[in-house]
Amino acid sequence: MSIIAQDMREVDLVIANRLDSSVPLVGQVSKYIIAAGGKRLRPALLLLTCGALGYTGPQRFNMAAVVEFIHTATLLHDDVVDDSAMRRGNATANETFGNPASVLVGDFLYSRAFQMMVDAQDMRIMAVLADATNVIAEGEVMQLMNMHNAELDESAYLQVIRSKTAKLFEASARVGAILAGASTDIETACAEYGQALGTAFQVVDDVLDYTGNAELLGKNLGDDLREGKTTLPLIAAMQRGSETERLIVKSAIEKGDTAMLDEVARIVKKTGALEVTRKAALAEASRAVSAAKRLPKTPYSDCLIELATGLLARQA
Ligand code: IPE
Ligand code: IPE
Ligand code: MG
Ligand code: MG
Repeated sequence: MSIIAQDMREVDLVIANRLDSSVPLVGQVSKYIIAAGGKRLRPALLLLTCGALGYTGPQRFNMAAVVEFIHTATLLHDDVVDDSAMRRGNATANETFGNPASVLVGDFLYSRAFQMMVDAQDMRIMAVLADATNVIAEGEVMQLMNMHNAELDESAYLQVIRSKTAKLFEASARVGAILAGASTDIETACAEYGQALGTAFQVVDDVLDYTGNAELLGKNLGDDLREGKTTLPLIAAMQRGSETERLIVKSAIEKGDTAMLDEVARIVKKTGALEVTRKAALAEASRAVSAAKRLPKTPYSDCLIELATGLLARQA
């Protein structure tokens, strides 16, 4: 994505400048997780949308930083909730600084994002990002309520991931369109693109939790099973496996038993559950491509299409 490389450097500058706080621990924890990098996908999505729609104003850098701050806040909270030990190739913030510091600095990043939104003085952008933040929280709570629930079905799973993950992708693309003063049709196409891309992204993430490489991914594998998360690979494995296999997967979800990880991963592979899950991701990625084709054709919209088609092959 060299097309937005210069823009991304500007976003990094905004990020660095807006982490200021007179409280040393705030800077320490936020810089710790932000300096570890991450793919910066959500700001990239916002910038590509702006590029595709011809908006070149400076507010795009601030709003791109805002969506990355919101994302980073959710990660700080999510790693506490999921009791995760590795993120972006490093020990998680909760592992390094403890749960209280992670939760509180997550709150700092959320509220800093809102301060920056106010600066933009656009009520529609405020509304989109306020709603997205609220829906993400609901998604994480829905997921919490379904921990160790092996009965969770595909539609309930989809509702969780559309909320916890896809909503911020959707909002990022939509904000790009709003900044560009796009028509309702174009704004809707951007939002649909973001939602489909984000959904595909999370489905692939859930596959990688069983098949990925921890070093490339920068996080530990098997976290989902340990937390008793009924993700699509497991739902498909329970549908397709023998009765014995179904009971093994069910029991592993109910107990959050990582001792059974190898056995569960074997069942997921053997039953063809991975193919089913990848197919679901592919369907969402295709939906994203169709939505991107409704935008004016530019090198930026081509990049949005490439992002969606390349998603299935991602290892990091
Ligand atoms: C991690 O998101 C959380 C999920 C939605 C799976 P990313 O994979 O975009 O995280 P970073 O920012 O690149 O670390
Ligand atoms: C990520 O969910 C979604 C949010 C951070 C809101 P996960 O718990 O599946 O993501 P990872 O695997 O920890 O990155
Ligand atoms: Mg997690
Ligand atoms: Mg995950």
